[in-house]
Amino acid sequence: MAESIPPPAVLGPVPAHIAIIMDGNGRWAKARGLPRLEGHRRGVETVRTTTFAARDLGVKVLTLYAFSVENWKRPQDEVGGLMGLLEYYLKKELATFVRDRVRFRTIGRTADLPANIQKLLNDTTAATQHFSDYTLVLALNYGARTEVVDAARAYAAAVAAGRENLNDDSWSTFSRYLTTPDLPDPDLVIRTSGETRISNFLLMQAAYAEFVFTPTLWPDFSKADLTAAIADYNRRERRFGLTSEQLKPTHR
Ligand code: IPE
Ligand code: IPE
Ligand code: MG
Repeated sequence: MAESIPPPAVLGPVPAHIAIIMDGNGRWAKARGLPRLEGHRRGVETVRTTTFAARDLGVKVLTLYAFSVENWKRPQDEVGGLMGLLEYYLKKELATFVRDRVRFRTIGRTADLPANIQKLLNDTTAATQHFSDYTLVLALNYGARTEVVDAARAYAAAVAAGRENLNDDSWSTFSRYLTTPDLPDPDLVIRTSGETRISNFLLMQAAYAEFVFTPTLWPDFSKADLTAAIADYNRRERRFGLTSEQLKPTHR
């Protein structure tokens, strides 16, 4: 009798860096008559499962948009609830990251987060900084526009101090002042919940990313959704400004 052959894990090359705009927690809760915070609580579970699903598929960097600079404008109890969940998540995950060799880091203006959260972020980052196989990046109090402002200010200071040359007009120099000098640009950006906007996420780094939009609400996002997004990515041709013909291997 023929043995059943397991399906391939994914259908083609796996993007090295996947970035996800985790959206739809509120709608997930509302559809069930639950408070918005319950949607966020379930969303944290999806963060956990997706972190390991991506690693198992061979992804090297996973960036998750967890809290935007604009999200402070939400009702105070929701912001407080999100901070409480972040605290719970960080406390619970540190041991898991160490055990499973996950390098943890953040992007965003974390200095504006509550002091207890900052301490947990620093501890988690420090305890995992020597791991190199897989990196989880949480975007917290992140906005691409504030990131560019911060980079421009740091770059101007470096020029004033004589560490950079104002005549250097290369992207490779300036981009070192963004928050991601140690990370490859995202290859694939996924947004859940059916919204098709970027909402101030990684505007510079996603210049040549492929985008996949899925109607799935974040608390329902599964490994199958992630695999489907990667399969979609694999059907794209990334041309980076070239023609399709230029990308084809030449036959002589
Ligand atoms: C995403 O879910 C989580 C955060 C932005 C913190 P939302 O809270 O935006 O959920 P919707 O968009 O209201 O459904
Ligand atoms: C984007 O989601 C921010 C995060 C996922 C953290 P939002 O729900 O805040 O975005 P908008 O307001 O719909 O654009
Ligand atoms: Mg939303």
